[in-house]
Amino acid sequence: MEKKNLDWSNLGFGYMKTDKRYVANYTNGAWGKGELIEDDMIVMSEDAGVLQYSQSVFEGLKAYTTKDGHIVTFRPDLNAQRMVDSAKRLEMPPYPVEDFIDGVRKVVAANAAWVPPYGTGATLYIRPYMFGINPVIGVKPADDYHFRIFVTPVGPYFKGGAKPIYVKVSDFDRAAPHGTGNIKAGLNYAMSLHAIVTAHEEGFAENIYLDPATRSKVEETGGANILFIDADDHLVVPKSDSILPSITRRSLVYVAEHYLGMTVDERPVYWKEVQEGNFKECGLCGTAAVISPIGKIYDHGKDIEFASGMEDIGPFMGKLRSTLTGIQDGEIEAPEGWIDHIM
Ligand code: PLP
Ligand code: COI
Repeated sequence: MEKKNLDWSNLGFGYMKTDKRYVANYTNGAWGKGELIEDDMIVMSEDAGVLQYSQSVFEGLKAYTTKDGHIVTFRPDLNAQRMVDSAKRLEMPPYPVEDFIDGVRKVVAANAAWVPPYGTGATLYIRPYMFGINPVIGVKPADDYHFRIFVTPVGPYFKGGAKPIYVKVSDFDRAAPHGTGNIKAGLNYAMSLHAIVTAHEEGFAENIYLDPATRSKVEETGGANILFIDADDHLVVPKSDSILPSITRRSLVYVAEHYLGMTVDERPVYWKEVQEGNFKECGLCGTAAVISPIGKIYDHGKDIEFASGMEDIGPFMGKLRSTLTGIQDGEIEAPEGWIDHIM
């Protein structure tokens, strides 16, 4: 299979139309058989449920080329299960886990020429999603749904990859108490658009959101969970009911404990602890972000600076990042069941 002629090492995080996508439709109360198609366009009613009441959920995972030239994905079963949880919360019919995993395998294999080669720093981003497609005018769930998975080759989410970023603590909320912050629904991201545009205009790479009920605890950013290293070298992971249960974060907790021998504290993290300088390293983690170190945080006229600084990733975040990417690239042996071998 001949690879596409792309400048793999210089890709940004963007959309590119690839050859095939996987689609399935839910009509008459049942999911139909999934298939690969070429058409990247979707035709729907002007009154489709998704257009009126934002009934849509999505996922994000990646395919990697390993050191020995295989194409693999990382824990797709967890994305499939999270999409089931997201769908249930928005009264959508869950897409079956086995069919999701099968769809991911098929669409990645069909677009193998688009999977970035090993060592380029790029990966194939996989975007499964589903939405209400039939006309809905009273506020209620749709009857019919469209499920689709497309893929697009991507480079780093933040320019510079593992270079520390400068972020701000936001005065906006991305989630509501008892709301949908813990699922991957498009509506959460719509909530964050004004905040991210404002942050970018002010020169920040991202927003850190605080808990919407008390605004005293660290939640997450618009597209990633947050990690800290404290003075005792523990990995500290904010715990909250209104953040997305990141698969990268859950994997890093395991990596920290079982590969790096670190102690992990999963607990509520108060903003005051961050302001008081109790942490020496901070980073964002997610499929798109991998681990992106945070060098400093702008907090209402003051900078909170981490000891790791703005030049390089700190030693703990660096080790976590290289161990995780090593597992994904096949350089380091993965825990049982983490790697799905596609071809
Ligand atoms: N938090 C938010 C809001 C996200 O959009 C993402 C991205 O998927 C994450 C966290 C990280 O989750 P994961 O590691 O499963 O990609
Ligand atoms: C991901 O990491 O997969 C995300 O969904 C984050 C962002 C691109 C929305």
